[in-house]
Amino acid sequence: MNLAKLSFTTLPIIWTGRHSRAMQSLPVAVYGAYGHTGRLLVKELNRRGHLPVLSGRDARRLKALVDEYPGSDMRPASLDAPAEMDRALTDVAAVVNCAGPFGDTPPASLLDASRRAGVHYLDVAGEALVAWRTFNDFRPSDGTLVIPAVGFFGALGDLLASVAYAGAPSPADEVSVAIALNGWTPTAGSDRAGVLRAGRRVVYVDGHLDVRAGTPEPFGKWQFPPPFGQREVTGEFPTADVVTIARHLPTQDINAYIHVQSPGEAASTQRFLAEVTVRWGKQQTRVWAAGRDIYGFSAALAGEAIDRLLRGESRATGLATVSEAFDAADFLRALPLDSLELG
Ligand SMILES: NC(=O)c1ccc[n+]([C@@H]2O[C@H](COP(=O)([O-])OP(=O)(O)OC[C@H]3O[C@@H](n4cnc5c(N)ncnc54)[C@H](OP(=O)(O)O)[C@@H]3O)[C@@H](O)[C@H]2O)c1
Repeated sequence: MNLAKLSFTTLPIIWTGRHSRAMQSLPVAVYGAYGHTGRLLVKELNRRGHLPVLSGRDARRLKALVDEYPGSDMRPASLDAPAEMDRALTDVAAVVNCAGPFGDTPPASLLDASRRAGVHYLDVAGEALVAWRTFNDFRPSDGTLVIPAVGFFGALGDLLASVAYAGAPSPADEVSVAIALNGWTPTAGSDRAGVLRAGRRVVYVDGHLDVRAGTPEPFGKWQFPPPFGQREVTGEFPTADVVTIARHLPTQDINAYIHVQSPGEAASTQRFLAEVTVRWGKQQTRVWAAGRDIYGFSAALAGEAIDRLLRGESRATGLATVSEAFDAADFLRALPLDSLELG
């Protein structure tokens, strides 16, 4: 399929505050539970009082995780074995997919299993191509919520943009997301996601998502709040935020920039700063958030979304971004951030 020719359709969201009480009392499943991000999410969910169902393809590694979290239910399941996937999602309220890289296609077998089981589905895909295809191609079962890209890349920019956008005339001229990291040691899953992306970059220009490849990435400078200050940034950064923002905040263009300090400069603890501006004419709003460890923060984002979902606080069913499903400012204030400036 030629991705550049894919249109971006926004499926109707059914706004609702009603969720079945019986469903809220069921456990949450984590698929890819023993990967780096999966383990962080299992820890986060336990901290929040859940005992998640642990799933993934390697029974031995799941068993080791059960030893760390005694009493956990482990359900080995291979993505290409529908019966195993069905067993893994029996009597759960929601599944969070942490198994990556997510590749070029949406994680179809887990999405399909979630539809068969009638459970909510979240994933931490950071790949813009994957998020685009999930929003475009997947049709959830009635009454369930599907939130792709509930990770640092995909959710934080979307949450900040929703806050920055409030009060701006619609459509805006430009939404920009700029991310600064003082260092980044990608996990095997993140590394492999970059390889699979093969230089393709999802961009949003003149009101349309598109895929660029074979042209050099643009470079520029961005004035971040302290401690980063002015930094060189790479443009057309293909974060899933481009897709999540494009879905519900009308704008002419979306820019995504990243600065990653050279490994030599990196501190031992990863720090991030994400800034979003929304511009219309000569006016602009600017909001930002700073915190630590983009993988741990992704687990916090997914954990917060799960808690809100199970408390019945979602405003939507169907496909939604995290800020379509929940109040963005309130959600941001609940996250473990070092600083948050919402203007
Ligand atoms: N949006 C964001 O900001 C964000 C944040 C964190 C992570 N992520 C993404 O999440 C993914 C996982 O990251 P990670 O840091 O946890 O990587 P990781 O430590 O390499 O773990 C990857 C996990 O995925 C599983 N997996 C991979 N291919 C699979 C397959 N075909 N079937 C079943 N399980 C499979 C692995 O199981 P095996 O060991 O059995 O292969 C492992 O549990 C990556 O794609 C990463 O980019 C995104």
